[in-house]
Amino acid sequence: MNIMVVGGGGREHTIIKKLKKSKDAGKIYALPGNGGIAADAESVNIAATDIAGIVDFAKNNAIDFAVVAPDDPLVLGAVDALEEVGIPAFGPKKNAAIIEGSKIFSKNLMKKYGIPTAAYEVFEDMEKALAYLETAPIPTVIKADGLALGKGVVIAMTREEAVDAVHSMMEDKMFGESGSRIVIEEFLEGPEVSVLSFTDGKIVVPMVSSMDHKRALDGDKGLNTGGMGTIAPNPVYTADIAERCMKEIFLPTINAMNAEGRTFRGCLYFGLMVTKDGPKVIEYNCRFGDPETQVVLPLLESDLLDIMIKTSKGELSADDVKFSSGAAACVVVASAGYPQHYEKGYEITLPEDLPDTEIYVAGAKLEGGKLVNSGGRVLGVSSTAATLEEALKKAYAGAEKVKFENAFYRRDIGAKAMKILMEGKN
Ligand code: AMP
Ligand code: GLY
Repeated sequence: MNIMVVGGGGREHTIIKKLKKSKDAGKIYALPGNGGIAADAESVNIAATDIAGIVDFAKNNAIDFAVVAPDDPLVLGAVDALEEVGIPAFGPKKNAAIIEGSKIFSKNLMKKYGIPTAAYEVFEDMEKALAYLETAPIPTVIKADGLALGKGVVIAMTREEAVDAVHSMMEDKMFGESGSRIVIEEFLEGPEVSVLSFTDGKIVVPMVSSMDHKRALDGDKGLNTGGMGTIAPNPVYTADIAERCMKEIFLPTINAMNAEGRTFRGCLYFGLMVTKDGPKVIEYNCRFGDPETQVVLPLLESDLLDIMIKTSKGELSADDVKFSSGAAACVVVASAGYPQHYEKGYEITLPEDLPDTEIYVAGAKLEGGKLVNSGGRVLGVSSTAATLEEALKKAYAGAEKVKFENAFYRRDIGAKAMKILMEGKN
């Protein structure tokens, strides 16, 4: 089968490397791909948001199956557009991708169907939002309604910070039109868990759980980023919590989407917080997480293409999805200064033949045959092993061997998880 993967980051590189192992996989294209992905798939210079370009490419290149990985083309309706011309695709349609595309939609869905989440208020009028903040409990959380490249969330520790956030979203339009409507919500406390799942609209099959490390610097200091590293499985996600999540969150969510006439087929990502009152939804994503995918898919033992095809047809069975009982760790190597100003164009040297380790390239391009960095998060070094401790050792050994000027990575990926595992043993 000829396959097209829309997107061009570390997540897409991971998906492509896994698809290559699928028994029915033929030629694989990446739109737009990147300099590292080019070693595993033919990179085609069409932007992930160019829906018409994507559809034309698929028609002209005998594509049998498409995988739409990033949020923006999903929210723009890429899957609908492909299916209209008869090309089956993995990913939710536009009317279901709204579960990530609008925070107000997802909060209202949870309220209507009794799915546990932080209490919240919606505001379209800045004066009303400011008046509400005068007596709101602090800390509080302010979120822009629409997609804001993962940056539209402010955790305000003081009333002043909350007021500033409302001004910058609603008045200064820091996140563009995304911020013309906002959600102000209750501040929740507890460890976070990411659970990606395959759902065909009938059943939901959770993948192995994971933990992201969002801040730029060690000890969860520094600015929020797209993610500086991940581990799987997440030790917070015990069998008991998993059972509650299935009953209280996962099934109610797909049933709610069906009841709204917005059947979700694809990868539904549950961003959860395990509070003292039980697991609650922090956010939904309508797609694989990045860099969660870099630790989840390496542990998948089943055929990814087969799962994706069955998911898109509404024919998924829990038996189709098997994960190994081992662990995985991914260390993101970034260009110093990320997520703010960082330099581009440094030549990258990659180590070869690292045991049980893959390098998933995110922000790099080929220039005269050389790989140079073109983004802040340059690549992820991802290792698997029987235990998390071993996986972390291998991933760090690999990260140390990646060379480019100004390279930096967090030294404490997995440290929190190791601590929980150690405490559990005592
Ligand atoms: P989001 O983009 O919705 O995932 O939010 C980014 C990060 O902000 C999450 O991973 C949480 O760490 C934090 N966060 C979001 N909502 C809340 C909340 N209601 N209470 C506490 N932390 C939150
Ligand atoms: N790593 C968080 C996300 O993909 O949204």
